[in-house]
Amino acid sequence: MSSKEVTSLTSSSPPLSSSSSLSSPSLSSSSSILLPPASHFIGKKEDIVKAGRVSKLVNGCRDVLVLFHQGQLHAMDTRCYHSGGALQYGDIEEFNGQLCIVCPWHKYKITLAEGEGLYQAVEDPTAKPLRTHWRSKGVKQRIHKVTEVNGEVYVTLNDSIEAIESDVYQTETYRSVSLKAQSKPKPRK
Ligand code: FES
Repeated sequence: MSSKEVTSLTSSSPPLSSSSSLSSPSLSSSSSILLPPASHFIGKKEDIVKAGRVSKLVNGCRDVLVLFHQGQLHAMDTRCYHSGGALQYGDIEEFNGQLCIVCPWHKYKITLAEGEGLYQAVEDPTAKPLRTHWRSKGVKQRIHKVTEVNGEVYVTLNDSIEAIESDVYQTETYRSVSLKAQSKPKPRK
C-alpha cells in the first residue's frame, strides 16, 4: 500500500459510544494504564502503522484522520479547513521545521502538531529578489488527542467550544460528498 492510500473505517464500522470504547478488552487487562475520558477505539496500532493513515467516523459525529508518521500518531479532522479537501490523500512534508500535511486540493499546509495553517509571507514586496518566510495563520484544523494502550489506538475528540475553521466541513452533506468521491472507481493506468 502506498503512503497515500487510506483505510476508511467510516462506512463499515458502527459509531462507537464512549461506553463501548471504554469497555475494550485491553482496558480490563490493564489496571495501570488509564485512557482519557471519552476515548474512542480506532484500531490496532499495527494495522494503522501498516496503512499509514486511517479515516474513521468517531462517536457517530466526527470524521477523524489518524496518521502514523515518523513513529508518531496524529489525529485531525479529515476534511481541510479551506474547502473540505480530502486530507487523507495529502503528502506529509516539513516546512520551517514543522511537519505538515499538504492538502491535495490547493496545497495548503497544516501542521500535524497544532493544526495551524502555514503560509509564506513576503518581507518586502519592493525588494529584489523577494524574500519570504513562514508564518502561521493560527489554528485552522481541529486536532484530536491520540492514545495508544497495549497496541490499541484511541482518539479523544477535541471538544473545545471555540470554533475552528475545519468544523464547517463536519456535516452530513460533506460526509456524503467524501464518501461518494472515495467510492468512485479509480481510472486504470
Ligand atoms: S481544500 Fe485544502 S487547500 Fe483547499
